Amino acid sequence: MRILAIETSCDETAVAVLEDKTSVLVNLVASQADVHRKFGGVVPEIAARHHLENIKYLLFKAFRSVSPGSLDYIAVTYGPGLVGALLVGVSVAKGVALTLGIPLIGVNHLHGHISSVYLAYPDLKPPFVVLLASGGHTEIVLVRKESLRVIGKTLDDAAGEAFDKVARILGLGYPGGPKIEEAARKGNPEFHHFPRPKIHDRDYDFSFAGLKTSVLYFLKKNPGARAEDIAASFQKAVVDVLVRKAFKAARDSGVRRIVVVGGVSANAMLKAAMYEKASESGYEVFFPPVKYATDNALMIARAAFDLVERGKFSDVSLNAVPYLAWEDVI
Ligand code: KG4
Ligand code: ZN
Repeated sequence: MRILAIETSCDETAVAVLEDKTSVLVNLVASQADVHRKFGGVVPEIAARHHLENIKYLLFKAFRSVSPGSLDYIAVTYGPGLVGALLVGVSVAKGVALTLGIPLIGVNHLHGHISSVYLAYPDLKPPFVVLLASGGHTEIVLVRKESLRVIGKTLDDAAGEAFDKVARILGLGYPGGPKIEEAARKGNPEFHHFPRPKIHDRDYDFSFAGLKTSVLYFLKKNPGARAEDIAASFQKAVVDVLVRKAFKAARDSGVRRIVVVGGVSANAMLKAAMYEKASESGYEVFFPPVKYATDNALMIARAAFDLVERGKFSDVSLNAVPYLAWEDVI
């Protein structure tokens, strides 16, 4: 079975073809990072216009290696995300579905992120706790065989958003996550103890806005401080909170497996800290391959395989849903 998937929810235009859940036939990602860099973040209308421009090249390229006639389904991200950006992918997917006469599958982007872990661990099965940390979301989700429950979320900024904003404050550029990580490698994580918001609270919620502000104030008071040291200390604060809350959620839920997904799961310090804590406490942690941690269409194709098995198809009335929640994932 072959599924073609399209992802355009934010600033990556992506097309993939996955065969039988594990065989990657096509995986194309056109990043718009260079376009948005000068604005310090994603400009929604510019993102939509670039998706429109890029998607045709990616599809033509995909169809050079996989014949359109060999496809069984077409999947597309229909939310959450930027509405104009989503509409490009949804409209193109509808056109392809109608032209080829194959069924359309609308995929929740968050379901896609969770599915990215199956690309590395095809036999992984619930129950597990998911820490989803991306540019738009930071959530803890308890996944059992037949249910999925969001048990924690950020009350303000997402973890990736905090990386992006602090990178901007430090003048490190965009996207912030990889820039902070790179600078942090040359910095001292113990240089300054930034606050760890909500780390000792009994719930599984997060808050990163205050941490970002404390970086801003610290820099104002200490203009001579090295960006590398601030980046390393900030990164440590975020990682400490994410690790602590993920393990607390797993412990309280009686689940011994933790899955970490979303763009921030590409962070090597987070990965090292999660593995260290897991080995101390007898838990298992699972990350997607780094190349599938940030937005891509392969994870959308993988999620679509689950939807096919559950008979969940869409039709040409499929619309973009910018604030799509988790409910429809299971
Ligand atoms: O999942 P993703 O590609 O898009 C959303 O769905 O939001 O995540 C993008 C976010 C950005 O905020 C980016 O700065 C962050 O993930 N990110 C990272 C790293 N790579 C990407 N954060 C920390 N360390 C990284 N290496
Ligand atoms: Zn994403």
